[in-house]
Amino acid sequence: METLEVALGDRSYPIYIGVGCLDQANLVQQHVVGQQVMIVSNDTIAPLYLEKAKALFVGYDVSWVILPDGEKYKDLDHLNLIFDALLKHRHSRSTTLVALGGGVVGDMTGYAAASYQRGVNFIQLPTTLLAQVDSSVGGKTGVNHRLGKNMIGAFHQPQCVIIDPNCLQTLPARQLSSGLAEVIKYGLIWDEAFFSWLELEVDNFAKLDMAVIERAIYRSCEIKAEVVAQDERENGVRALLNLGHTFGHAIENCAGYGEVLHGEAVAIGTYMAADLSKQLGWLTDADCVRIEQLTQRAGLPLIPPPELSASALRDAMNLDKKVENGKVRLVLMTAIGKACVTLDFEQHQLEKTLAAGESLCK
Ligand code: NAD
Ligand code: GLY
Repeated sequence: METLEVALGDRSYPIYIGVGCLDQANLVQQHVVGQQVMIVSNDTIAPLYLEKAKALFVGYDVSWVILPDGEKYKDLDHLNLIFDALLKHRHSRSTTLVALGGGVVGDMTGYAAASYQRGVNFIQLPTTLLAQVDSSVGGKTGVNHRLGKNMIGAFHQPQCVIIDPNCLQTLPARQLSSGLAEVIKYGLIWDEAFFSWLELEVDNFAKLDMAVIERAIYRSCEIKAEVVAQDERENGVRALLNLGHTFGHAIENCAGYGEVLHGEAVAIGTYMAADLSKQLGWLTDADCVRIEQLTQRAGLPLIPPPELSASALRDAMNLDKKVENGKVRLVLMTAIGKACVTLDFEQHQLEKTLAAGESLCK
């Protein structure tokens, strides 16, 4: 097992990574302060892992709440199911919430923890690749609004993150690919050598080669921990983690939450960012071909569903959290392994990218 730290002063916490981590009760129990534990999961994950999670907390007063599965239920109405359960079981301010699931369960549990009795502890037990490499680390929590993705939320850091890559044995292939979009993101924004390593190893993810997957999780979490430690509240460098996300969130919103998976939308958004970066002369044709090939080999889409019009995407992008004085700031690439947040493009160039469809990066 390997351990990383997210260094945030008195809110620092460990990330434990290793096959079998979820069988080690002592690992998690050192991060539980009171006697009460509320496990939050969903109706797909609970039949697979709830008993394993309960076994981690033998001797504690454990309750659980099972949410319906899906991005379309990541909203305030379903967040209330967590508060209902906490109140029904009389959980106090010293309770610990435990997120057992992917990014949806993690974001909702974290936000419930941020607001229940003005803030209680929580622990992340991520079970998707996407949650293991990204959403369980860094303390962004929240829910969607009909008008915008992740628009309601809070920064609230967990007590620890426990990542057992064995959980990926039961994960559908499409979801594994979705997580790979965020892994590729780290290569593109931060680490060209990691991107090159992914080009060599990408086919081994679908084969569930645990050594490769564990290395990818470790490097992804290492980069995320470094970025979050520098800029917890996204006033600067953390914004780079949003490569592809402003386009992607618009795609998720316009297609209907859950239709295009988060990682799929990020992959398409990243390719759109590559197109705009190429228009600006920042990326070469060869860079774009590398991005295209790795994305395709990871089992991810490159272009938005044809029914999503450029104008619908533009309107949705204008609701993004990164809009400033009517213009959206975008993360673009200046090379593979280097990115920046910029307003340095013309509206007609953005329009061209939004309308490009199959001509993206061509
Ligand atoms: P998800 O949580 O919807 O999980 C994907 C699917 O896999 C679901 O059907 C789930 O029930 C199922 N599943 C989970 N673990 C499984 C397992 N081990 N075996 C079988 N099935 C399993 O989606 P996701 O991709 O994990 O997360 C996407 C969400 O994360 C989005 O809402 C996105 O906004 C959010 N996100 C948050 C951050 C952050 O920093 N907080 C970062 C990236 C993404
Ligand atoms: N996923 C983007 C972030 O955590 O900042």
